[in-house]
Amino acid sequence: MNAPSHSAFANTADEAIAAQDALDNGMITSEQATQVAMQNTLLTPRFYTTDFDEMDAIDVSSVREDWDILINKMKADPNKGHFKKNDTWEDVDWDGMEPKLRAEFIDFLISSCTAEFSGCVLYKEMKRRGSNKDITELFQLMARDEARHAGFINDALREAGIRVNLGFLTQQKKYTYFRPKFIYYATYLSEKIGYARYITIFRHLEEHPEMRFHPIFKWFREWCNDEFSHGEAFALLLKTDPKLTESFTNKLWIKFFLTAVYSTMWVRDHQRPLFHEALGVDTTWYGQEVFRKTSEISKQVFPMTLDIGHKRWRPNLDRMEAASRQVAAGKARGGIGGTIYRGLGMAKAAYAFVALYTIPAKKNVVPARPHLEPSY
Ligand SMILES: [Fe+2]
Ligand SMILES: [Fe+2]
Repeated sequence: MNAPSHSAFANTADEAIAAQDALDNGMITSEQATQVAMQNTLLTPRFYTTDFDEMDAIDVSSVREDWDILINKMKADPNKGHFKKNDTWEDVDWDGMEPKLRAEFIDFLISSCTAEFSGCVLYKEMKRRGSNKDITELFQLMARDEARHAGFINDALREAGIRVNLGFLTQQKKYTYFRPKFIYYATYLSEKIGYARYITIFRHLEEHPEMRFHPIFKWFREWCNDEFSHGEAFALLLKTDPKLTESFTNKLWIKFFLTAVYSTMWVRDHQRPLFHEALGVDTTWYGQEVFRKTSEISKQVFPMTLDIGHKRWRPNLDRMEAASRQVAAGKARGGIGGTIYRGLGMAKAAYAFVALYTIPAKKNVVPARPHLEPSY
């Protein structure tokens, strides 16, 4: 079999990575971009590792019917070849772009690429370590998709003369260990929130095509449908063991992950005001809209949703954002003064998080079968 010439046509994550490496041949790694991707703070995408044997032991027979439908849909591969520039890709005037916007946009692309690749690395590893046919098949298909997504973002970055060295990241970036159940909660949510984010921007730009300052946004619909399917897979995995969503302790964990994922997204997005302004998107509206869609979707499997209309919700998200700016400023200042300032910022963030976490959640009766179609 010939190796595909572009990651978009790759059948496996390894093929996609090899195709991307071939494109980068001779191109010097952008130290700075890789440094950004290497960062491990509370706000940057991480790489995860887990107990692969425990995950390999999952028995999907209780959700077999929906499982087979989903796997067959992913195997049919409707997006093969999609994640590649075509003649609707317009030239991008990187040099003419307002420098601060350019910096924020590049930061957005690097962090999106790292997040996509983080999924790829985890899924690929599960496929490599496992022997359970259902599980390895699913993770191989998801790794394929994420490698294509990361590859496509790398195509866009390459035009700006930037290269994130994916091979280097795989070897050198720190891995965070999460127990399998935490992987399910966090990954389920990040796939579904990813869908909600991409589709909200796509729909907004359908209405305001004049605000589309880069062609990559045209690819967002098919993109988010991939993320939607990945989220469906995790919903089914969560369904294989009722305890995961029904026990008292796990409900507390689900609420914790909902609060952490939502508030992290809020803080991170508010750090890119020019990027959102260029798209004509009000960051605060966007955040709440993405939370609303994600909450609606997550009712398929989570027994509660966060009360994003509660009077303590918005003020504490804003407090969290201010605290994160204080932490960054303290770090930049350095010295004893900077360290104290930073520590106080962290205490403020923790206080705001507790205030968010203790808002009473809205109970939800979970349907017997989680199946959903993308509907936004
Ligand atoms: Fe993805
Ligand atoms: Fe995904």
